[in-house]
Amino acid sequence: MDKIVIHGGKPLNGEISVSGMKNAAVAIVLSTLLVEDKCLIENLPDIADINVSLEILRSMGAKVERKDRNTAYIDTRSAKQGVSPYDLVRKMRASYYLIGAELGRFGRAYVGCPGGCDFGQRPIDQHIKGFEALGAKVTVRDGYIDANTDEGLKGTSIYMDVVTVGGTINTMIAAVKAEGTTIIENAAHEPHVVDTANFLNACGAKISGAGTDVIKIRGVKQLHGTTYPIIPDMIEAGTYMILAAATGGRIRVSNLIPKHIDSISAKLVEMNVNVEEEDEAVVVERKGDLSKVNIKTLPYPGFPTDMNPQIGVLACLANGTSMITEGVFENRFRYVEELKRMGAEIKVDGRVAVISGKGELMGARVRAVDLRAGIAMVIAGLAASGITEIDDIYHIQRGYERVIEKLSAVGADIKLIHVPDSGAYDKTE
Ligand code: EPZ
Repeated sequence: MDKIVIHGGKPLNGEISVSGMKNAAVAIVLSTLLVEDKCLIENLPDIADINVSLEILRSMGAKVERKDRNTAYIDTRSAKQGVSPYDLVRKMRASYYLIGAELGRFGRAYVGCPGGCDFGQRPIDQHIKGFEALGAKVTVRDGYIDANTDEGLKGTSIYMDVVTVGGTINTMIAAVKAEGTTIIENAAHEPHVVDTANFLNACGAKISGAGTDVIKIRGVKQLHGTTYPIIPDMIEAGTYMILAAATGGRIRVSNLIPKHIDSISAKLVEMNVNVEEEDEAVVVERKGDLSKVNIKTLPYPGFPTDMNPQIGVLACLANGTSMITEGVFENRFRYVEELKRMGAEIKVDGRVAVISGKGELMGARVRAVDLRAGIAMVIAGLAASGITEIDDIYHIQRGYERVIEKLSAVGADIKLIHVPDSGAYDKTE
């Protein structure tokens, strides 16, 4: 498999522009199945998960053409139900949006169970609760989810037992063309929930309340095409903000929505890092030694779980003992074993990690164990003294567009080494 080799220890300086948000783009691309017309999606991140999503639509018979690496025409009029290829579907968790989109379009969905990921159980019981409340009959058999409704989906009220991004978006997608009104209570507030609702409304859906606890969807019969730019990726932005603090340089992270990264900026300021806010950018620079920090990851607008590994690296570079409590997933600390190989001192007990920051890390050979853990190893390698080699980097390529290019542009000594017989990347979260 390919690997990344880093020569670390240098402050990084310059500008990094943020790409479109992966977790909004996968939902929007797959929900075009509802829109029997031509859509032009702009600011698409050029990453593996989006290529897989576009490939799934193509394999179902939709017309998909890339105008350039960040823009795609999608016309799903010729798409057929139930033929999404399992070897593509299993590559990413977001394939679960196919269930809501196929149910909403065809009244029937037959989709391979999404790959759970290695941060514990990742059930989709709340997604199924939403579909069944709308009148679908759902069975899970031989690794497939089979959902159908004879009389069509009917609007209803659904209370989400868990604040779930995927469950909220999937239920919203299925409800867009249901007969009558659907109310989703205890909905997730994430910006990607709002972006998906905004895209569907631009196609003629009637969704209100996205971004709050209660989302109301008034069913419509037909949607029409639109041109829609994906919002900037707040997790990519936060990742590069932490990179600036970790390497001790000054980086302008541009093309972002400052409000989306409020919790990340606040925690960096607590750690003695300067965050200067502009309209669509932030300039991040460490003011001196990093201070310890206590983090609890929570659903938006709390500190994002997808930033757990990255802030974990920064805490290793601080002086003193920091704590990270993972409030969303059972276990998001698999990166800790890799960090320990770089000299980190971390104790994990269930959902709590206690980090004894020593102000430095040493280069080592490590693995990307999942997407965000992988990019955290890149940050660690760039901050560490010496050489760091990272294996299994296909995880990173799922969610970070042109990562080598963007980091080299701010002075990183980072190379992608092609190792013969590298296979296609494997299933991920
Ligand atoms: C989405 O995953 C993101 N993925 C994840 O990002 C992100 O970590 C997560 O939301 C939380 O923000 C995509 O958007 C493709 P959840 P999702 O449903 O939808 C439990 C990344 O790195 N739960 O909000 O799977 C679940 O086990 C990825 O970009 C149920 O119990 O997350 C978890 O504990 C990693 N039943 C909690 O809810 C359900 O039916 C939140 O999960 C669904 C979820």
